[in-house]
Amino acid sequence: MSYRDRIHCGQLNISDDGRVVTLAGWVDALRDHGEVLFVHLRDRSGIVQVVFGPESTDQTVCEKAGLLRNEFCVLISGRVVKRQEGTENPNIATGNVEVKADSLTVLSKSGVLPFPISEKSMVAGMALKRDEPVAEDLRLQFRYLDLRRPTIQDHLIKRHRIVKTVRDYLDEQGFVEIETPILTKSTPEGARDYLVPSRHHPKNFYALPQSPQLFKQLLMVGGMERYFQIARCFRDEDLRPNRQPEFTQLDLEASFIDEEFIYALFEELSARMFEVGGIKLPRPYPRMTWLDAMNATGSDRPDLRFDMTFRDCTDIFSDTKYGIFKQILERGGCIKGINVKGQSEKLSKNVLQNEYAKEIVPGFGAKGMTWMRVLDGGLESNIVQFFSESEQGEILTRFTAQKGDVILMIADPSWHLVCSALGQLRLHIADRLGLIPSGMFCPLWVTDFPLFEATDDGVTSSHHPFTMPDRTDFDPKNIEELLSLRSRAYDLVVNGEELGGGSIRINDRDLQNKIFSALGLSHVDVEEKFGFFLRALEYGAPPHGGIALGVDRVVAMILGTTSIREVIAFPKNRSAYCPLTQAPSQVSSVQLAELGLLDLGKDQSLPGAEKQQDLIDSLSWVSRIKINNDERAVIMASVKDAENLAAIVSERKEDGEPLFSVVAPMNRTRKGKEARISLLSERGDLFKNAPAMKGRYFKVASILE
Ligand code: AMO
Repeated sequence: MSYRDRIHCGQLNISDDGRVVTLAGWVDALRDHGEVLFVHLRDRSGIVQVVFGPESTDQTVCEKAGLLRNEFCVLISGRVVKRQEGTENPNIATGNVEVKADSLTVLSKSGVLPFPISEKSMVAGMALKRDEPVAEDLRLQFRYLDLRRPTIQDHLIKRHRIVKTVRDYLDEQGFVEIETPILTKSTPEGARDYLVPSRHHPKNFYALPQSPQLFKQLLMVGGMERYFQIARCFRDEDLRPNRQPEFTQLDLEASFIDEEFIYALFEELSARMFEVGGIKLPRPYPRMTWLDAMNATGSDRPDLRFDMTFRDCTDIFSDTKYGIFKQILERGGCIKGINVKGQSEKLSKNVLQNEYAKEIVPGFGAKGMTWMRVLDGGLESNIVQFFSESEQGEILTRFTAQKGDVILMIADPSWHLVCSALGQLRLHIADRLGLIPSGMFCPLWVTDFPLFEATDDGVTSSHHPFTMPDRTDFDPKNIEELLSLRSRAYDLVVNGEELGGGSIRINDRDLQNKIFSALGLSHVDVEEKFGFFLRALEYGAPPHGGIALGVDRVVAMILGTTSIREVIAFPKNRSAYCPLTQAPSQVSSVQLAELGLLDLGKDQSLPGAEKQQDLIDSLSWVSRIKINNDERAVIMASVKDAENLAAIVSERKEDGEPLFSVVAPMNRTRKGKEARISLLSERGDLFKNAPAMKGRYFKVASILE
């Protein structure tokens, strides 16, 4: 048997009947029928059934096969035969053939698996039985086993095809793929940098790029005209389900272009990417200014798969007697609402008042919500008696309301707050009532963003400071004027998710300096951070612009996965930690000393740098939980227990009893019992260090999904 003659399992079909083949792969599943052993053999291409039985297989080979276990890596040869009628297995693509084995080589054995890998049932008409989903951290710890699952392999193969589509198309369009540095200087994209200390320059740090922004602009100054890169970016930012600390962008820049060039290029490109997943995006993509998007959906990334867009009602109540609205309007506020069409049966008075008005909407930042159900004879609500007849009539007209509709309104002195709270309410209601159609994709361009956002002491860039403003004659010290500027930026949004963003850039040194000055940066700061870049703008920088697309997000959307972690080979978990390699981890004092990082001064010593004595401090630091002096002894005892257990595990013999559970852990003893309130909670001791409490609830870090 030689690997050269190897055929892939998934390629076999009825036309191979009678063919002698050599196969290599992993034992996906086994079914032992006494005399006959059936094996599902799996390689990247698929699964085929192999049969070891007295009729076709030598006795010694059968005996060897009897020792096979799941995930043994094997080489098998045999003859392909058509399966007998009625024994076909529609669960696998090769289900109407099987291979009668005549030889078997075990290439590598496998230990007891931490979780099942097989996804295909060996029996027709029977689904695979799974108790509980495998905990994600366990999957990530053994990612090399998780990667053997056909589903994950399919994700990575499709990701490859999507990226290849990008490369092929951009190559056709004259774009050149160029790599930019990873060890570099900070680029302002709004997140914190990951820093890398330099041994040759003690106490000096490189920053990992948050994006290749400045380098791609320098490539334009360098005359490369059309650049792209499948670029790894690093951002130390708050964790969310669709964010990873390192992620991949399709990053692109072109010279002598305008917005229309980017729209046309990216509509074609993204449409081709989605087509790899069999999805046809409707074209041309609609465009919406940021202001219209906010006024209609309360979001700068509107989900247009369903309507329920906002109606402004401020004018209806200009002379209202209803005190709350009156006060809000006197303070320059606004009132907006949505019509939840035909849902009054599902949105009872109780749900609207006690759940939405009292609990859910205040959670979105608004003080309250006004609700009205449309009945035969008009509007029903707890406050409708305060509205005049003409106000009620105008509401019905404004919302084209009919019997069975539910109108929800939010009023506040802040336009931002009204938009944001009503926007979140719109999504909450649509999700709760199942109003978002599945399998539908609604792309759009959001344009004309504000160039700046207000901060406590000035302004900050909404995107990044290299974006071209809509006009250049502004006063960099006039905050009000700065906040009125719009940018020549655009975001590509699909189904309420921002997949990409970019802009036309500033290519004039004076204008770039003016923006830095508006941001409150001193000459010294500018020179130190961006001196090299400003210098480049002095040498005939061409007009240019570009965009970056989040590859992980696009692939996850095309494949319909719940998280971007499902389309990344080795992602970090929800806490930006890698359970496989256990990164990030502490480093030795020797390494720190080499980097000149040990003598930062007593107060600045790095957590964990001073060893055992500070173990508890270091635990406290990494877990962000304050540990008091009287708790130290208890925690130290638990650490000792863990160390003892680790010692037993490391000394344990190969054939010893497994010390871990092969199923995901769960609290079985509590099943069926009433939930109890802990005494510690009654006494107020539980989570006494929690940053905030509400009743018996404690605020937890926002990284929990
Ligand atoms: P921006 O910061 O909008 O633009 O990023 C572009 C796209 O990258 C994706 N993305 C992420 N994906 C996963 N995890 C993250 N932490 C993460 N952060 C961003 C998003 C986003 O739309 N230099 C500019 C582009 C330009 O102006 O050309 C930039 O990086 O899908």
